[in-house]
Amino acid sequence: MVIGLGELQKGQTMKAPQVLIINLGSQYTDLIDRSLRDFGVRSAILPPARANDWLRSNTPKAIILSGSDASVNDPDPPAPPEVILTADIPILGICYGMQWLAKRLGGQVISRTGKGNYGRTEIHLTHDYFDQGLLDGLLANWLVVHASHGDVVTHLPPGFTRIAWPETSTTAGVMAMVSSERKMWGVQFHPEVHETQHGSTILSNFVLRIAGCEKDWNPRNLADEIREETLHVIGDRNAIIGFSGGVDSTTLTALMAPSLGNRLRAVTIDGGQLREGEILQIIETAKSAGVFDRHSMASAPFVRALSDTLDAEEKRKRFRVVYRDAFQTLARGYGASVVMQGSLAPDFIESGATGGANIASHHNVGLTFDGLDQVHPFRGLFKYEVRALGQELGLPADICTRQPFPGPGLFVRIVGAPVTEERLALLRLVDRDVTYILQASGEYQQMSQLVVALLCVNTAGVRGDGRSYKPTIAIRGLVTSDFMTGRGFQIKEETRRKLTRTLLRNPEVGNVGYFEADKPPCRTEFE
Ligand code: XMP
Repeated sequence: MVIGLGELQKGQTMKAPQVLIINLGSQYTDLIDRSLRDFGVRSAILPPARANDWLRSNTPKAIILSGSDASVNDPDPPAPPEVILTADIPILGICYGMQWLAKRLGGQVISRTGKGNYGRTEIHLTHDYFDQGLLDGLLANWLVVHASHGDVVTHLPPGFTRIAWPETSTTAGVMAMVSSERKMWGVQFHPEVHETQHGSTILSNFVLRIAGCEKDWNPRNLADEIREETLHVIGDRNAIIGFSGGVDSTTLTALMAPSLGNRLRAVTIDGGQLREGEILQIIETAKSAGVFDRHSMASAPFVRALSDTLDAEEKRKRFRVVYRDAFQTLARGYGASVVMQGSLAPDFIESGATGGANIASHHNVGLTFDGLDQVHPFRGLFKYEVRALGQELGLPADICTRQPFPGPGLFVRIVGAPVTEERLALLRLVDRDVTYILQASGEYQQMSQLVVALLCVNTAGVRGDGRSYKPTIAIRGLVTSDFMTGRGFQIKEETRRKLTRTLLRNPEVGNVGYFEADKPPCRTEFE
């Protein structure tokens, strides 16, 4: 039996996020989510396809369409799921989001190459804006806003009214629009950006007044609710949790350990996937979570299982089987009949467990254990929520802000060649050096996650008097709050030079590459 408390489905006791933010590719999307949390409303940020899946089993109270760096006039522009147009849920389109609504519903959007509106700009509000809900509480009839767009809406779709226009009459276009009947609003500027005057009033008008969202983001209540529900499921049985030392399993352990006492065993399976010195860090972290048993396994069973495939999904699946078998044996030894997992909403969404495509099989999603029930108390949560829970529980700051690391660890960071003990050892060493250099430059702390991978593409080089032909080290940083979407991090040139110089001192490294793509289209991990 698998029980997901807080599952992203209707009818569960723990509520799903009330606002769906559809990320169409804007650098400001995370800011929308942060603004909503500031006034106590939880939201989920999902790219269009994932949003479509999520909407099959959820009915949010409001939908926000983000901006984008694309144009609605591009050949294949990003598009929210069509279902939102008839869902009778209030929609706010921001920038590109508004343009998409305008064009899709029969208005006109023109692209004015080289004549964009970027930065602070003044807009005028129509005299009857007080009736429009969105702009309630704004006392002046003009606003300074942050704009960032090349395209403009020149003709409103049928049934829409213009409620704001640009500062100069020579700049044609609509700065805000509404159709109360269709429950749709659009703003051409960015209310989520600090530079927009009264931006948070506009957003709170939309989610609290128009959509009727309730304040549901309170880490204290969330902690109590999750603890109570999890205890209810576990009853008087013994439970076991896989403890990675990351923020998810540490927070879950810290949340449940005081109530479960010695009925909870937390174990770490060290099968060669961990980074240099990581097990020591896990032991330290465990102290703050209050319970710990370490189980060190030889890496051989894992390496053996993975050594004859290059396929990312196959590697993940095989890792899970070895992990599951080891875990099951331990659980039996402890007399545990429930497995607690720290898996989050994105793990389920990306594993295809909510009905969508399988982007990557997360190691702890979709596992079945013989004779063991599973409970996923954080199944409805996103990373930033778990971090806030951890803070609420008094966990040290370095744990609450800790970067994630995939369960299959270094195994999914050896790309394009079989996993061997030698490759693992090389990657472990390189990962340590890269982390150290980026921590010293302060850039590690600015990334949400650093990924160091061994790309087994050999490149030719010159070493001393001879030729070398060795694999490539890939370095990638991502900035994100929920890991569903993110911005590729650009490492400073000076640091890159230092990294490249340092890594190439190792005769087993042939080249160093920097990967700065956003998610999507790329993922955080290479596999
Ligand atoms: P992607 O590569 O999908 O990763 O953008 C999103 C986040 O999930 C982590 N990740 C995993 N975590 N088990 C985990 O516990 C896994 O199998 C797994 N795969 C990816 C990844 O490191 C990133 O933080």
